[in-house]
Amino acid sequence: MAAFYSFMIVLILIGIAWVGAGGAQLQTLFGIIVPYVAVAVFVVGFLSKIWKWSSSPIPFCIPTTGGQQKSLPWIKWSPLDNPCTKGGAVLRMVLEVGLFRSLFRNTKLKLQKDGPKVGYSSAIWLWLFALLFHYSFLIILVRHLRLFTAPVPFFVGQAEFFDSILQIGVPVLYQTDLVILVAVLFLFARRVFDDKVKYISLMADYFPLFLLLGIVCSGMWMRYIAKVDVMAIKQLTIGIVTFHPVIPQDPIHVSFFIHLFLVCTLFIYFPFSKLMHMGGVFLSPTRVVPNMSRRAMWVNPWNDPSVKPHSYAAYEDDFREKMIEAGLPVDKKA
Ligand code: HEM
Repeated sequence: MAAFYSFMIVLILIGIAWVGAGGAQLQTLFGIIVPYVAVAVFVVGFLSKIWKWSSSPIPFCIPTTGGQQKSLPWIKWSPLDNPCTKGGAVLRMVLEVGLFRSLFRNTKLKLQKDGPKVGYSSAIWLWLFALLFHYSFLIILVRHLRLFTAPVPFFVGQAEFFDSILQIGVPVLYQTDLVILVAVLFLFARRVFDDKVKYISLMADYFPLFLLLGIVCSGMWMRYIAKVDVMAIKQLTIGIVTFHPVIPQDPIHVSFFIHLFLVCTLFIYFPFSKLMHMGGVFLSPTRVVPNMSRRAMWVNPWNDPSVKPHSYAAYEDDFREKMIEAGLPVDKKA
């Protein structure tokens, strides 16, 4: 049901934009006002989440480790999976954010074929499609910069060139359009066809997938089917970024307003959703803190400064006689 409701919400959003901007001609609302509101909600929501997380104290040294901690010289240390310096933690983060390394090493629970036994298998497909999804998303966003810049930066042209290098069809196909479509469908199918994942999936999991699917499909509709007037759209987008918004004289196909409305919904939804992992990953103590638990003292910022540390030596001084009387071993006799 969660998947069905999420799908219906996205259909309703499409209907709202279609009727509003197409039928009722409310193009100022859908082309200018809603985008400004969406960007404002996104920026304020994103920054306030980051502010809240970065100002939360970290009570313990709690990095997630996946290998041997640095200890005695003859014990082999695993520097990437158990970094003990800031540089090591940064390197681990670079591999995490750039290559999703922990997802690559991830395993999933699986019933073995030979009898009712539980075992583990690799989750490599999730890693692959997650990576494909995020990189195609990034390239699509970079390409979109041509709508918001004049002159268009060099790297945007390069991204367009390489993304359409196969030269299929007119207008020429961007490979990332197909890749992102397949990747989102895979991520959805995984939730529907894997019973364990389905059991724990909520609307908060399905809704972003349907929303992204809607954005990608409406984008492709614009480019490959409706063949929208990109010059008129650019007049609108440049007007928005230069704070001189105008609705162009030349008509813009309704698919653009649907695309834009779905994107605006994503922007508004983003700071309150699991998609905030984009910012949160950089503030996660289990990832960004080096493992110093045996090498340096970690002072809990919540500690009451009036409560002084009480060492074992001081404890023994307090209770030595009673300990000797009870037959307990002591470090110092007197
Ligand atoms: C989350 C953000 C967005 C995503 C994921 C996205 C995705 C896509 C995709 C997959 C396409 C198909 C063609 C292509 O890849 O270029 C597309 C096309 C398009 N998008 Fe977006 N889009 C986003 C935001 C926007 C925004 C904010 C605007 C404008 C205000 C916009 C305007 C357009 C236009 C005009 C096209 C047609 C381009 C053409 O005909 O070459 N998109 N979008």
